[in-house]
Amino acid sequence: MAISVEDKVVVITGGAGEMGSSLARRLADEGAKVVIADIADGAALAAELGGPERAIYVRTDITSEESTRAMAQAALDAFGRIDALVNNAGLFTGKPWDELTLDDWRQRFRVNTEGVFLATKAVEPAMTKQGRGKIVNIGSDTVWMGTPGMAHYVSSKAAVLGFTRAIASELGPRGITSVYVTPTLLDTPGTRAAFQQAHFDYVVGHTPIGRFETPEDVNGLIVFLVSDDAAFVNGAAINIGGGISMH
Ligand SMILES: NC(=O)c1ccc[n+]([C@@H]2O[C@H](COP(=O)([O-])OP(=O)(O)OC[C@H]3O[C@@H](n4cnc5c(N)ncnc54)[C@H](O)[C@@H]3O)[C@@H](O)[C@H]2O)c1
Repeated sequence: MAISVEDKVVVITGGAGEMGSSLARRLADEGAKVVIADIADGAALAAELGGPERAIYVRTDITSEESTRAMAQAALDAFGRIDALVNNAGLFTGKPWDELTLDDWRQRFRVNTEGVFLATKAVEPAMTKQGRGKIVNIGSDTVWMGTPGMAHYVSSKAAVLGFTRAIASELGPRGITSVYVTPTLLDTPGTRAAFQQAHFDYVVGHTPIGRFETPEDVNGLIVFLVSDDAAFVNGAAINIGGGISMH
């Protein structure tokens, strides 16, 4: 039997962004019900994916406990359960060490780390009640490489690795399993605006596969992780970067 996510209810934070919207489309194609949770507008995407029976947009600010709670409630009101949360929302622009301020540091941690905590906190009670659930945390391979020029970003994503392992232990007994996934640099309008050409040249030059990663490269792994076939995958860190780092 093929891997299936048919009728799984999947909440995607940052679901209106580059990777999130691609994942939402793929999951919807595979028969999942999708909750697009983003501070940016995802209403048109939800309509494209089939409207209220199949996909909803919930305006969500993951840095707000009230907002993340409302996100979980909206998912439950629409679909009655939450099978998986993909903590994908994040901010990734860099800044050299000499310019980095405490405010930069805190802003990154607020979204990339606290946001993951709050979104997870919000969906956990429903998953506990169900006796199962999957948390997929989108990290970054900068954590394995110690990429320069973005210490605040790398650190905020590394904290999520620790968080993933901690909840794998603490929530595993409730049937909630957690995974950390680390893509490498994608070639998107967002990353083009954030990084220099030299950065892109380095990535392609050092990737054995010899091309940029695409959102579609990541989607297949997440479909698997959301499926029942990955029910025993817990506390793992899975690197998906074409071999630029071999963690
Ligand atoms: N693009 C890459 O090269 C790359 C590589 C490795 C890891 N990642 C990680 O993958 C994830 C997605 O990246 P992307 O390229 O799709 O970025 P993106 O900027 O296209 O999408 C991120 C989304 O997060 C949303 N968001 C930001 N702050 C939010 C908040 N407070 N509450 C709710 N939503 C919020 C944005 O509105 C946006 O839609 C990020 O966590 C990023 O760090 C990206």
